[in-house]
Amino acid sequence: MSGSGIGHDQWKTRFGFMLAAMGSAVGLGNIWRFSYVAGESGGATFLLIYLFFVLIIGIPLLLTEFSIGKAGQMDAVGSFKRLAPNTKWHLTGLMGVIGGILILSFYSVVSGWTLFYLYQYVTGAYWTEPDGGFGAAFEAWTSNPIAPLFWQALFLGLTILIVMRGIKKGIEKANNVLMPALAILLIFMAGYGLTLDGASEGLAFLFTPDWSMLAEPSVYFMALGQAFFSLSIGICGMLTYSSYLKAKDRLPAATVGIGLMDTVFALIAGVMIFTAVFSYGVEPDSGPPLVFIILPSIFEGMPAGHIVGIVFFVLLTMAAFSSALSLLELPVAYVHRTLGLTRKAATLTMGSIIFVLGIAASLGFGVWSHIQINGNNILDMMDNITANVILPLGGLLMAIFVGWYLNRDQAIKNSEIESPILQKVWYNIVRFLVPILMIVILFISLFDI
Ligand code: TRP
Repeated sequence: MSGSGIGHDQWKTRFGFMLAAMGSAVGLGNIWRFSYVAGESGGATFLLIYLFFVLIIGIPLLLTEFSIGKAGQMDAVGSFKRLAPNTKWHLTGLMGVIGGILILSFYSVVSGWTLFYLYQYVTGAYWTEPDGGFGAAFEAWTSNPIAPLFWQALFLGLTILIVMRGIKKGIEKANNVLMPALAILLIFMAGYGLTLDGASEGLAFLFTPDWSMLAEPSVYFMALGQAFFSLSIGICGMLTYSSYLKAKDRLPAATVGIGLMDTVFALIAGVMIFTAVFSYGVEPDSGPPLVFIILPSIFEGMPAGHIVGIVFFVLLTMAAFSSALSLLELPVAYVHRTLGLTRKAATLTMGSIIFVLGIAASLGFGVWSHIQINGNNILDMMDNITANVILPLGGLLMAIFVGWYLNRDQAIKNSEIESPILQKVWYNIVRFLVPILMIVILFISLFDI
């Protein structure tokens, strides 16, 4: 049963797949989420633990996820059914599909804000501080019950238009343009950040660890959730992408490339944001609004700040867009097969469901702001449940599936690793280290947070 699956679209080239997977990984997670989580969790110490998790858990799990999709040659649920017929393993895929729907629901809300901010910069509205300041403007904007929905719909609409066209003609083509542009813009922005007075303080925050933070259990938990979120692992989005590979396109080198590129992007984004934050003397721990409140006020005081603002929000929108494509493809591939819908109909259906769920996340900043748990509004809850529960749980299940359910030869064959030493290292990481580390971290967090 090797080769292409039934009626399954395929990537034109392996490089196209790599760009698309990088597009999936590099997103709001690297810029918006990374900067506020790192800012809240102590900067450099968080970064170190995060890097450690990416290397030791993230990249091996990314390969695990790819190996299931490539061998299964079907969507999230179908691939498990093919590799483990008559078992319940496909529920891992189903949980992934649900996780993807949830993530894109709130992701498209934040992406809608991004698009709106871009528009404000293009028209010049945010070149100077609006009455009451950027904080009040952000609050007024997000608590408005109608306007953000329009931008969320616009963002999702564009995502739908691309996903409808399929893998080769839609997702691959879009990423071929988006990713190189993204890399250029990000490097430009970080380079500019480094020229600012006081940039060195930002670098110190990011690269000089405060060892006392190592005793803080929540740092491990946040770093793990961030590693999963940023690498797009745990909900079978990457699995779905790898199912469109041809048999001859090998996984291991591509996986390492994708994982490293995502990390490099996060580091450059960190440099870009924290050099600016420190050179303008603002606190780094201002949470999710960091990018929407603090940065605009920094841009205002910068030389050529309005151009920097435009570039920044173009960048953020493009990064969000390439990730949204993968988040939508995940459920679309599933319903396309199971409900017998055309790709167009499947994309429209899933896009609409996601839009409706996203409305709740959006209203959580205004008319539904009283709906809160522990000070978390609806969007924060969706973010926490997915990044801190569904993604790690999905990753853990996939590690157990490959490390314990499949037999060793099959697992290693699917990973396509050639060197016997690396085969051993990877297999033991997936079989022992990942489950043990993850269970420990899940326990610590359950009893501490
Ligand atoms: N990794 C993306 C980001 O950093 C978000 C994302 C896209 C994602 N696809 C995913 C997260 C699949 C988890 C699973 O913004």
